[in-house]
Amino acid sequence: MSHPFDYSGKRVVVTGAFSGVGAALLDVLAELGRPEVIALDIRRPEGRIASYIETNMGKASSVDAAIGAIDGPVDVLFNNAGIAATHPVEDVMAVNWLGLRQLSEGLLPKIREGGAIVNTASIAGGRWPEHLQDVLECIAIEDRQELFGWCRDHAELVGDGYAFSKECVQVYTMKSAKATLARHVRTNSVCPAPIDTPLLPDFNKTMTEKTMNWTIDQIGGTIATPRDIAMTLAFLGSDAARYVNGVNLNVDMGFNAFMTTGQIDFSGLA
Ligand SMILES: NC(=O)c1ccc[n+]([C@@H]2O[C@H](COP(=O)([O-])OP(=O)(O)OC[C@H]3O[C@@H](n4cnc5c(N)ncnc54)[C@H](O)[C@@H]3O)[C@@H](O)[C@H]2O)c1
Repeated sequence: MSHPFDYSGKRVVVTGAFSGVGAALLDVLAELGRPEVIALDIRRPEGRIASYIETNMGKASSVDAAIGAIDGPVDVLFNNAGIAATHPVEDVMAVNWLGLRQLSEGLLPKIREGGAIVNTASIAGGRWPEHLQDVLECIAIEDRQELFGWCRDHAELVGDGYAFSKECVQVYTMKSAKATLARHVRTNSVCPAPIDTPLLPDFNKTMTEKTMNWTIDQIGGTIATPRDIAMTLAFLGSDAARYVNGVNLNVDMGFNAFMTTGQIDFSGLA
């Protein structure tokens, strides 16, 4: 018998399924009914998938080819691939933001009514309310070179690109939810705190180990597992979330709640 979290009979696209959260998502989806999974990654995932399309999310031609290679209908798109700022800022913006938007908009006509798009953002992208107009201006730019130019002109805001790319994803999640709803497709994002994945050492380099450990310390000392995040992604893509749209869901063991209510201890950062 089917249940609200059931994925049986569904067709699902997952980016970044080779390792970390994406690999854990393959396991969770298998437990929730074994949907047909089409995986897009630069590396072939070893988990349970029906097909693999080698795709570089940072390259427009590669994303275009993947869109062309995916037959409809699709029930859920999980935009999960991402890179840290150990890469150049333009690559970070291309993979984390431009590729995500291109795939979402290219696949939308193939997503079935009642379907969903679920993005993996980050709590690192949570400071968009401080400069919402700039982020809206940035995400309205269609042309890749123009976007890179905008990033150079706003170098202080964009920084190393990681947090800003996730701000773009969070604001885009809210903005695009209106357009996707017109097609009866929901759009949401999951915003995780640090996760124990192969990407963590990169964040320890770019955001410093001290900051990462301090963040984990503030939420009880236990880091999220890839499965913790994968389960939330699966929830947002399922019918159990059928009235959830345009939400950036912090999956951070309360970090943002504690920040908002003044319960974060900054002394460890000094
Ligand atoms: N690990 C963390 O602490 C953390 C925290 C918050 C958000 N996130 C986000 O979670 C998502 C998953 O990351 P993860 O932590 O599981 O790391 P990961 O490195 O284990 O997984 C990233 C996946 O993306 C794929 N990938 C990398 N570059 C790609 C490209 N150009 N094209 C296509 N696929 C590519 C990788 O092969 C891999 O399968 C990312 O969007 C990341 O920004 C991670």
